[in-house]
Parts: sequence; C-alpha cells; structure tokens
Amino acid sequence: MENGGNGVNYESKETSTMTIKGILSLLMQSTVENKNKRVISLGLGDPTLFSCFQTTSVSEEAVADTLFSHKFHGYAPTAGLPQTRQKIAEYLSRDLPYELSSHDVFITCGCTQAIDVSVAILARGGANILLPRPGFPIYELCAAFRQVEVRHYDLLLEKGWEVDLDSVKALADHNTVALVVINPGNPCGNVYSYNHLEKVVERITKYFDLLGGPATFIQAAVPRILNQTEESFFKKTIDDLRLNSDICFKEIEEIPCMFCPHKPEGSMTMIVKLNLLLLEDITDDIDFCFKLAKEESVIILPGTAVGLKDWLRITFAADPSALVEGLKRVKVFCQRHAKNG
Ligand SMILES: Cc1ncc(COP(=O)(O)O)c(C=O)c1O
Repeated sequence: MENGGNGVNYESKETSTMTIKGILSLLMQSTVENKNKRVISLGLGDPTLFSCFQTTSVSEEAVADTLFSHKFHGYAPTAGLPQTRQKIAEYLSRDLPYELSSHDVFITCGCTQAIDVSVAILARGGANILLPRPGFPIYELCAAFRQVEVRHYDLLLEKGWEVDLDSVKALADHNTVALVVINPGNPCGNVYSYNHLEKVVERITKYFDLLGGPATFIQAAVPRILNQTEESFFKKTIDDLRLNSDICFKEIEEIPCMFCPHKPEGSMTMIVKLNLLLLEDITDDIDFCFKLAKEESVIILPGTAVGLKDWLRITFAADPSALVEGLKRVKVFCQRHAKNG
C-alpha cells in the first residue's frame, strides 16, 4: 500500500486487480445464511436490476422484431452492421462540434470488449498505459493479459477528483501508448469541466480492429431504438439518479463513521471514506463489507476493489425504497459496531 500524498490510501497493484463481480459474488454468498432480510445490493452498477430503471418497450420490441424477422441471424461485418454504425455516428454527432462518419464507429460487446481490443492494438514491447487511481479495475486486467505495463496517476480528492496533471507528466514517457480518462468518474461520480479535459488530453491516436461484436439481430435493432426512444426516457433516468444521489448523500451524512467528501455530479456511484477509529471489531473495508453482508444482507463494494483501501463504493442506481432501506440497515450495522464512548 502506498500513500497518494493527499490523505488517500491507494491500494497496491496486487489487490486492485480483484474483479468487482468476483468480490460481489463472494459478498452475495455471505448473505445466504440470513433468511430474515431481503438482500439489497448497492454494489453492482446495474440500474436495470431495479424496476424504476428498466429499459423502454421500444428497445424490447425492436430487438424482438429483428430476431423474428429472420434477416439478422448470420454474421455481421467485423466492425458492425453498416446501418447501425451510420445511425450511431449521426446520434453521437448531435452533441459534437463536428460530424462523425460511420467509419468512426466500431461496435463491441460493451466497454469491456472495446477496452480489451484497444489495449491489444496498442500493445507492443515495453509499452505502458496510464490509468487513474482510484479507478475501474478492468483496465488493469486487460493490460496484464496483453503484457502492457500499467502506471497509475492520482485523482486529487481536494480538487474534486481531478487528474493530477503533474503525476501524468512525471509518469509518461516515449513508451506511453494511452492515457485513460474516465468521465463521469467510476467510482467517484465526478464530472470534469471541458477546461480540465482540454488540459489532460494531449493527443488522441486512433487504431482499431475487431474479432466479433454483439449478435447481429441486436445490432440491427439499434437504429430503431435510437430513432424511437423519447428524450423523456433519458431525462427521467438522469433525474432519478440525481434524486437517488441526494438521498444517498443525506443518509450517509447521518452515519458518523462515514464521510463522502465529494458529492457525485454524474455516474451512479458514490465513494465514501470509512473512519475505522469509530468502529470496534472491524479491521478494514473488506471486513466491513463481509460483516455487513452477513448481518444485514446489504451488499456494498469495498473501496479496495477500485484501489481505495478503507473506502466504500455505494451504487445509488436502485429503487429509492431499497436504497433508503439498505442505508438504514448500514446505519444500524455501524451503530452496533460503534466503539463505546
Ligand atoms: C469506467 C468503466 N469502464 C468499463 C466498464 C465495463 O463496461 P461493460 O459492462 O459495458 O463491459 C464500466 C462499467 O461500469 C465502467 O464504469
């Protein structure tokens, strides 16, 4: 473990390579013994698990129609269906000062495949990539798999988790092939200003190649989904997330051993500092989460999984009632384990 110089304990490389899904499934197993309480998971960033964040019927119907049309059961071109790439380029160009073409779009199975393909393309002898700390662990895993060296630059808590520009400058050399910037941030939920991003991005180089993307009928459904999904769906999702972030922040304020130094401005996760001095018989964030899962059937991700020892990452993309109940149980748990006097 090393200290990031800003009062934040950053975890060592070894512990940060544990997968989020791996640790969450272990936490879930700890809840099995507890039959009296329904399990509330504030660990996985998957809003669709909760009814209030379910997707639109337009999306479901579009996918069903392309499946039953029998036109899209074969292989798609490697970079994706042309009509899908074209529609995505048009859609993304709405928010850009320039026009993307279909050649700028490559369709992958989620971000994980995009990250893996990008790292594979950039990999060469001696290459290194710069990753944020704290950060999302999948980048480390893809880099390790492709034998690319990882160097961590710090996110500065005192500057709302902005990139430490000095550490980027100190770490980069002629073998640096990529700088990863996560915005909105996961796990911190911060959103960077245009000005800050301009300072961070020195250059962007594009390389790409693919081995295979999502099922063809799913790709074929995308143009209709983008054409027919009402703007109000996105607005409602964002409004609900903002409300949940407020609820989560307020509930955390009432728990003495927890502190959220930077309220999220985006994303769906909040990072919370644990004050272990106020707790007895809890050794660290991992111990906290396993005991919490066992006693209260609430799942929260230990900060160690995202490179921050003795912090917690709470996902607030949940039904508000589940979120409130889950956090009340966290409060009861902390009271039960509080040091007397
Ligand atoms: C920053 C970041 N990178 C990568 C991923 C993985 O994305 P996917 O689940 O689409 O593979 C996530 C998922 O939450 C993420 O937050």
